[in-house]
Amino acid sequence: MNILGIESSCDETGVALVESRGEGTPALLAHALHTQIDMHQAYGGVVPELASRDHIRRVVPLVRQVMAAAGRTLQDVDVVAYTQGPGLAGALLVGAGVACALAASLDRPTLPIHHLEGHLLSPFLSADPPEFPFVALLVSGGHTQLMRVDGVAQYELLGETIDDAAGEAFDKSAKLMGLGYPGGPALARLAEFGDASTFDLPRPLLHSGDLDFSFAGLKTAVRTRLAGLGANVCQQDLAHLAASTQQAIVDVLVRKSVNALKQTGLDRLVVAGGVGANASLRRQLNEACAKRRVRVHYPELALCTDNGAMIALAAALRLQSGAQAATRDFAFGVKPRWPLADVVRHAA
Ligand code: KG4
Ligand code: ZN
Repeated sequence: MNILGIESSCDETGVALVESRGEGTPALLAHALHTQIDMHQAYGGVVPELASRDHIRRVVPLVRQVMAAAGRTLQDVDVVAYTQGPGLAGALLVGAGVACALAASLDRPTLPIHHLEGHLLSPFLSADPPEFPFVALLVSGGHTQLMRVDGVAQYELLGETIDDAAGEAFDKSAKLMGLGYPGGPALARLAEFGDASTFDLPRPLLHSGDLDFSFAGLKTAVRTRLAGLGANVCQQDLAHLAASTQQAIVDVLVRKSVNALKQTGLDRLVVAGGVGANASLRRQLNEACAKRRVRVHYPELALCTDNGAMIALAAALRLQSGAQAATRDFAFGVKPRWPLADVVRHAA
């Protein structure tokens, strides 16, 4: 069974084709991505209306590109999956509309997918896929959550951010430092030239005893330190501040992940979402987990940030596990705000 996946929740148009054999890990036949980073850079962040219009321009050519790369035609598509939420309403509508129109014209069923479930399951496409059960650290631009994952559609929230997400902390701090958008990778690059012990920045909720996060205070601290450095701050001080900021975020993510592993007694950690691409986070998580004989799994670097492969994969795994059936009503509604708990399968 061939499943086409379409992702358009934010600033990346992603399309992919996976093949499911009914069990085991589905095979990624082809995927293609167009990132809008260059377009939004001039504005310092994502402009929702521009994002929607660009998705309209890109999505059909990307579908053609994926079908050609996979050596298949549209007639070979059995199910069309798309991101239904959460994300920007207008951007989601483009992917959902194209997916449902395409499915209707081919007379194939559709499957709406939760964007975070895509991230969560994306390490199954890596060379070293995880096994259930595991603890998942989901760190994206909009979400920071720790979850217990017992199987497809079996997710239990262990803790989450009470304000900003980890990616937001990277992005907002980077913006204050004048590093542009998206801030995470830019801040990480600058941090390589700095000493993380230079600035003592807060690590909110580090010792709170629960698995929740809070990052809003960090950007305020960064703003205060920047003001202290004055208008003519030198590049080296900025690099020290970037390194200190990154370390404050990484410290909290590592500590809480270890606490979640202790609390659940599980010995596997899966890291997913854009911030999972951060090299410093990967290094320090690997060290902390190696000490505890915990295995850590990551998505391939190219599949850490938003992409269509994770959406097609999540659809394939939901179909294979019987968690969801594809339907042919072709009516679509998007869900800009949508808790992951809504896609959990409850015991019959
Ligand atoms: O998962 P994602 O692509 O989109 C959302 O679903 O939000 O995550 C985007 C986030 C942004 O905040 C971006 O700055 C961050 O991931 N990010 C990084 C890195 N690469 C992407 N943060 C830190 N270091 C990176 N290398
Ligand atoms: Zn995402």
